Amino acid sequence: MFKAAAVLGFPARHSRSPLVHGHWLRQFGLRGAYLRLETPPDKFAATLKSLADLGLTGANVTIPHKEAAFRLADDVDPDAVRLAAINTLWLEDGRLRGTNTDVYGFLANLDEGAPGWDHERHEAVVLGAGGAARAVVQSLLQRGFGRVSVCNRTISRAEELSALFGPKLRPLAWQDTEKALTGASLLVNTTSLGMHGSPPLDLDLASLPASAVVTDIVYVPRETDLLRRAAALNLRTVDGLGMLLHQAVPGFEKWFGLRPAVTPALRQLIIDDIEGRT
Ligand code: ATR
Repeated sequence: MFKAAAVLGFPARHSRSPLVHGHWLRQFGLRGAYLRLETPPDKFAATLKSLADLGLTGANVTIPHKEAAFRLADDVDPDAVRLAAINTLWLEDGRLRGTNTDVYGFLANLDEGAPGWDHERHEAVVLGAGGAARAVVQSLLQRGFGRVSVCNRTISRAEELSALFGPKLRPLAWQDTEKALTGASLLVNTTSLGMHGSPPLDLDLASLPASAVVTDIVYVPRETDLLRRAAALNLRTVDGLGMLLHQAVPGFEKWFGLRPAVTPALRQLIIDDIEGRT
């Protein structure tokens, strides 16, 4: 049976999801398609309602629709409730169900890129307090971290996260970041700093323990300044591309019924695309 899914975004043209899912469809030899649908905010609710009429079995949603999707889905995975945002939807028994696969993607990327990264779970430091930071904090608490320090330029946003996640979350001012690194076994950047076209993330990593792992959810460029500095200190690093690839796995499985793998060939396909465009 032919099945199709799509990414709904505005803009959707930057999304690499069609490349990822298209690769898996070809690899499995499935009769199916993964489309890109430019969906302006005023058309989003109507588009979600007509997924079945459009011949779609489900969808990914990206900027700026993740919160609206959360409100519009009939059922949402309990893990996504605290995030109040979802990125993956599927039709099941006539109902529109949704989840947020960023948590899975973040954890799977670290599990693959830095095995054992979670053996020491005393403290993690997260830079940024936006939507991406929420998914990262949720991931780390789920994995059993005792404390997650969130450093943000606008401290009130970090404080909002502490209201949401409770006492294990420690909100910190941006200028306290370097001090916070002393006890951290993991440092995660979720800000746009270091992204192609944004200012670099200028942080002294000297106080991180030698066993710490450093990861960035920015993946263009793949090796951000933060990761380069960490590697120069012989710290283990994990780039953000794997999160993008791993977060796509549960959606593909829901829509097309087979669980795909994140392989070096897939990774290379996306790297070639990024390097061709930037
Ligand atoms: P997302 O949902 O993708 O996480 P976001 O909500 O726009 O995106 O969050 C971007 C993050 O990058 C925020 O934590 C933001 O800090 P503020 O909350 O203070 O805006 C952070 N950020 C962006 N530009 C920054 C800069 N120049 N210096 C420090 N932090 C920055």
